[in-house]
Amino acid sequence: MPVPERPLLPGEFPGAIWYGEEEIEAAMRVLRNQSPFRYYGPGCSFEVRQFEVDFARFLASTPGGPWPEKSGIQVTAVNSGTGALEVALDALGVGCGDEVLVQGFMWISSISAIVRNRAIPVLVDSDDTLNMDPAAIRAKVTPRTKVVMPVPMLGGCARIGVLMSVVRDINAERREQGLPSIRVLEDCAQSLGAHAWGIPGSITPLADEGIHRVGTFGDIGIFSLQINKNITAGEGGMIVTRDPELHRRIDALHNAGYAHDLENPCNWYGDIPVGWGHGRRMTELQGAIARVQLAKLDRILDGMRRSHARLEDCVRKLGMTPRARADADNPGDTGYYCLFQLPPADLDEAGKIARGRAVARALEPWGLHPWFLHDFEVHVYYNIVPLVEKWPISNGCPWACDRNSFHTACRYERGALPRLDEALITTVGINVPSRMTSQQEQQVEDVLTYVFKEALPGV
Ligand SMILES: Cc1ncc(COP(=O)(O)O)c(C=O)c1O
Repeated sequence: MPVPERPLLPGEFPGAIWYGEEEIEAAMRVLRNQSPFRYYGPGCSFEVRQFEVDFARFLASTPGGPWPEKSGIQVTAVNSGTGALEVALDALGVGCGDEVLVQGFMWISSISAIVRNRAIPVLVDSDDTLNMDPAAIRAKVTPRTKVVMPVPMLGGCARIGVLMSVVRDINAERREQGLPSIRVLEDCAQSLGAHAWGIPGSITPLADEGIHRVGTFGDIGIFSLQINKNITAGEGGMIVTRDPELHRRIDALHNAGYAHDLENPCNWYGDIPVGWGHGRRMTELQGAIARVQLAKLDRILDGMRRSHARLEDCVRKLGMTPRARADADNPGDTGYYCLFQLPPADLDEAGKIARGRAVARALEPWGLHPWFLHDFEVHVYYNIVPLVEKWPISNGCPWACDRNSFHTACRYERGALPRLDEALITTVGINVPSRMTSQQEQQVEDVLTYVFKEALPGV
């Protein structure tokens, strides 16, 4: 089968490839107003604030339904997803002597934010969704556990409803033991718009059982607007919570560390000291562009889901097993990536790694942007050298800090998460662009069929 001169598909830029006149006009509006700062300027039009309001309305909507005018969800825009994680953990009071439970398939920022807050990351194994396994949480909880951080990866939901009820049960027991509650921080950088079934709230139910957007189940959810994400402003992040007191802390900490007194809204950096600020404000340019992108999100998701369903069918027919969904009756995944497990084979570990690499290499020339998950850079815990080697930030913190001396039991080398490790050496994925024509879908099917039937038969 001839390799085309140009890649068949655009890269992994779901939102960016929808940029058009509306985004250009939004950016120009900010420039014409000479007001790129969110709180004031010669002609400030409060783009970031309007984006925060729209984002809350979107998150409160059910898929396909209208966005409600009001919601109990509070949103703070920041300048990156990494910044969102750092501010969120700070707002939750995470620091020296604390443990944060996190999955081993994530992005390095999920872990760097924990380390930057001087806490110890504790790895939790994954289930067949490749996200945090709710059944694996309890064994990792200690009196020092402060936060559980699920990271719905590549658009695929964790079993978040089950996870929330596991944490609620653990918290009920901790209350009786006089221990502080564990909070949930959802890192949804890669999964804006996904939805799942369950009850939000880590201590008491905060909404009815039903379908909710990911990021609204935990005490805090974060999102990223970096260029690979479902909507983008180049950079950007969002922090969301249903808890007014947490929102007050997030609002203060993302800025100069002062909370706004609603009686005195004139002071842009707040009036009441809460902590040390992170200086993570979003610019008006980002806010204006992201607001336009948000209005396109449903179409972006529709595009990815439609193409994903077709490609998933194709890989299934070729003998592969698509990544499991959290809930077969409620397919809330965004479809950003088509991940599939290669067929069972009588191969040792080295053989499986060689096979995965051969498949990714065979798909590469057609521009399908394949990844063999074992080689998926710093999305994989054991590929993160500073984690495996426990690099400190300063003064030895967190690894060599007296209050964290318990950490010697934490291991980060391959082998720490047996279930995930096996999934990573048997799973390959291809990117699903948000604007595929049916001709492109057909071409990708042809490539997959060629690779698995002719180029690499017997894989
Ligand atoms: C799971 C996850 N968390 C956090 C981040 C960090 O977001 P940002 O790149 O906006 O800092 C990313 C970005 O790729 C991510 O994928």
